[in-house]
Amino acid sequence: MITNNTSSNFNKSLSDNLSIDEWGAELCGKFNKEFTVAPHKLHEHEKFSRASIIDLLDNIPKDRIQCYTMIADATKTNSVAAVNPDKVSGAELYAAVESGLFWVNVKRLQKFDPAFQQLLDEMFGELVERGASLNGLHEITSDLILTSPGAHTHYHFDREPNSLWHLHGSKKLWVYPSMDFHYASQHHIEAVYAGKTSEYLPYNETLDQGSQSCTLNAGDAVWWETTSPHRVENNEMCISLNCAFKTRASTKRWNIQRANYFMMRKMGNQNPSISEEGTAANVKEIAYRVSNRFLNYKANSNLRAGLATSLAVDVSKPNCIAELATMGRPAFLK
Ligand SMILES: [Fe+2]
Repeated sequence: MITNNTSSNFNKSLSDNLSIDEWGAELCGKFNKEFTVAPHKLHEHEKFSRASIIDLLDNIPKDRIQCYTMIADATKTNSVAAVNPDKVSGAELYAAVESGLFWVNVKRLQKFDPAFQQLLDEMFGELVERGASLNGLHEITSDLILTSPGAHTHYHFDREPNSLWHLHGSKKLWVYPSMDFHYASQHHIEAVYAGKTSEYLPYNETLDQGSQSCTLNAGDAVWWETTSPHRVENNEMCISLNCAFKTRASTKRWNIQRANYFMMRKMGNQNPSISEEGTAANVKEIAYRVSNRFLNYKANSNLRAGLATSLAVDVSKPNCIAELATMGRPAFLK
């Protein structure tokens, strides 16, 4: 349920704060292709005030609120642990993020509030109109990510392209070359696409030598080449709107990577091509799609084994985390 707010700013369309009309064709042409920071004004909208976000946390279905903690060490990429946020109010969860060590992701805002669907429609309509190359654009979603002052978003890559619209706080972002096996091994990339492993990748600081970085502040939109590994270290509590999507190109990469994992390696090819161009790639993709329709490929994975947690958000405890006597599944892991 959405609480009405009489503020004139609240009732203003979110897309009035996009600023894409000021970017120009050159900037829009880099969207989803090249690490780029561009200005926006979404953070000035009342929808992203503390009160509005607390209202959102109170009213959006619990299964949309992902909550994790981690060790604030960039090399500890396997330290991310689920924390149950189901028993706390929106105000308590917001306060826990402010003073604890949390990574909270409020998923699929556009399914809950039509204002976010309208924002996505106008955002991507404007991007395409102004030169962004997004052939076959589909499944556009928006998530709100709230992270604590000392939080890390560990080294990983996302299977789907996305863009971050930063709304609050300051954080440092590092972006690394896409589909370069020095930064993520070929087998690891395939395993992520196959669902065999999580998106977190092994990291050591020597990788930073090949990175690009920037400090993000409220009013910065950022994107990078699809599947570029990236990581974040917060300077303050941060809030970002993450807009993810799929394109024909991202779907093809998905199919080629899964074909390599489920088909090519099974046939003895331990060095399958990652090419996405030409007849061989097209034939491989078609073969995968036909084969998957009958065999419904799924990797043997222990990812589901980690779905229960004994940790729960509790603002009365040190670091706002309680260790419970029993394991349970928060709504977002059911
Ligand atoms: Fe990411």
